[in-house]
Amino acid sequence: MKRSTVKELYATKPSGQDILVKGWIRSIRVSKSFSFIVINDGSCQKDLQIIADDQLEGYEDFTKSLTGSAFAIYGKLVESKGKQPVEVHANSIEVLGKAPQDYPLQKKGTSMEFLREIAHLRPRTNTFGAVFRVRHELAQATHRFFSDKGFYYIHTPILTAMDAEGAGELFRVSTLDPKNMPYDKSGNIIWEKDYFGKESYLCVTGQLEAEAFACSMGSVYTFGPTFRSENSNTTRHLSEFWMIEPEVAFADLDEIALLGAEYIQYMIKHALKYCKDELEFFNRFIEKGLIDKLTKVSTSDFKQITYTEAVDILIKSNKSFDYPVEWGADLQTEHERYLTDEYYKGPVIVTDYPKGIKAFYMKQNDDNKTVRAMDILVPGVGEIIGGSQREEDLDKLTKRMKELNLEESLYNWYLDLRRFGSVPHSGFGLGFERAIMYITGMSNIRDVIPFYRTPNHIEF
Ligand code: 4AD
Ligand code: MG
Repeated sequence: MKRSTVKELYATKPSGQDILVKGWIRSIRVSKSFSFIVINDGSCQKDLQIIADDQLEGYEDFTKSLTGSAFAIYGKLVESKGKQPVEVHANSIEVLGKAPQDYPLQKKGTSMEFLREIAHLRPRTNTFGAVFRVRHELAQATHRFFSDKGFYYIHTPILTAMDAEGAGELFRVSTLDPKNMPYDKSGNIIWEKDYFGKESYLCVTGQLEAEAFACSMGSVYTFGPTFRSENSNTTRHLSEFWMIEPEVAFADLDEIALLGAEYIQYMIKHALKYCKDELEFFNRFIEKGLIDKLTKVSTSDFKQITYTEAVDILIKSNKSFDYPVEWGADLQTEHERYLTDEYYKGPVIVTDYPKGIKAFYMKQNDDNKTVRAMDILVPGVGEIIGGSQREEDLDKLTKRMKELNLEESLYNWYLDLRRFGSVPHSGFGLGFERAIMYITGMSNIRDVIPFYRTPNHIEF
């Protein structure tokens, strides 16, 4: 007999039909002549109640099984007299795998910190089952959103020789033997002897390669893992995170800002429609008012201001921030939070940042001070999207690269895009985990990725 998932059973009209369901025990309550067994198989937020008669074979044995044990249950699907629409009257129960007393996930509430230490078991909890079902749905929504708009999905490389953000937050990739490094006479490592014949890294972004495809196929996007060795131990930074990067030829900054807002709203609407049970769960246990917040954000326009306007608002707030507000300095989390959580009480698009704090590839404004950058900030999380219009002028771009001491030979191919039929183009990157945090209300980025990597942490 084929196994049905709990999700499928909830979508089935109960008429006493024979079914087979398998899952892990959440609880067993033994009474006089029968027992209530509650199982969950991770297919949906709901548990399934099984009623087992004391006449069943092995009754003594399986009713002694503890929380976390795995069962296979053959039975009849019937209408339930309780709160749920369906339940199962067992015909036979097979114990697939027992869990002993020290199974770490007991009924009583456990802390998020503890669950991080057992990240291999936490997807069995209601909270993490919900997080990873939402994560799945948002990935599906992402592909549907861009594909429906005519964007092509491009797989950009993970291994690279370029520091595409110029921020120096690279993880080195090397096959050299650390005990026997090749040095030249002046004591420098001879990288020509390394695997790729030059210094190589894990990518921090797929943007530069995506630009090559936008400047040939029009509208493209990437969706892949990116790696940053920044030493940020915060609730919103990971060393390995997933990023979605659309890149659009012939588009300017305003178009790409609109696209970013529309994409966020699309994901929210998708979650409201396809993750109802999960969002209700988060609304109840993780962030009160979550569903109202999402519903409102999904239909209202995002505010758009310039960096200079943002600085004015922050100075006029008369708040005492830990980091001083000063034109030219990057906005810190506390500044972003003031703008989104207190001032606008919603998402904000901030444009035209000082060029000194942004990457080399951004289009320079005529004021010679700012670049055509845009960040989208959301309440509770801060920056969720970072993007820009790209500098399409060869001379301006090479001049900026010289100022920043970038090694031109590595970027020659990138400059070709400006040499041969250069066009205005723009794009952004959305941090997938930050989007999941915003949509679920989860407050630590470590809890929205299956197995997190942060400084000093690479378990599992
Ligand atoms: O603002 P960032 O650094 O922009 C880029 O990488 C551009 N190449 C994107 C582009 O224009 N194609 O990163 C983009 C987003 C941020 O807004 C943030 O949401 C997320 O990536 N992000 C991180 N998420 C988790 N952990 C980290 N360490 C992150 N660094 C950036
Ligand atoms: Mg950024």
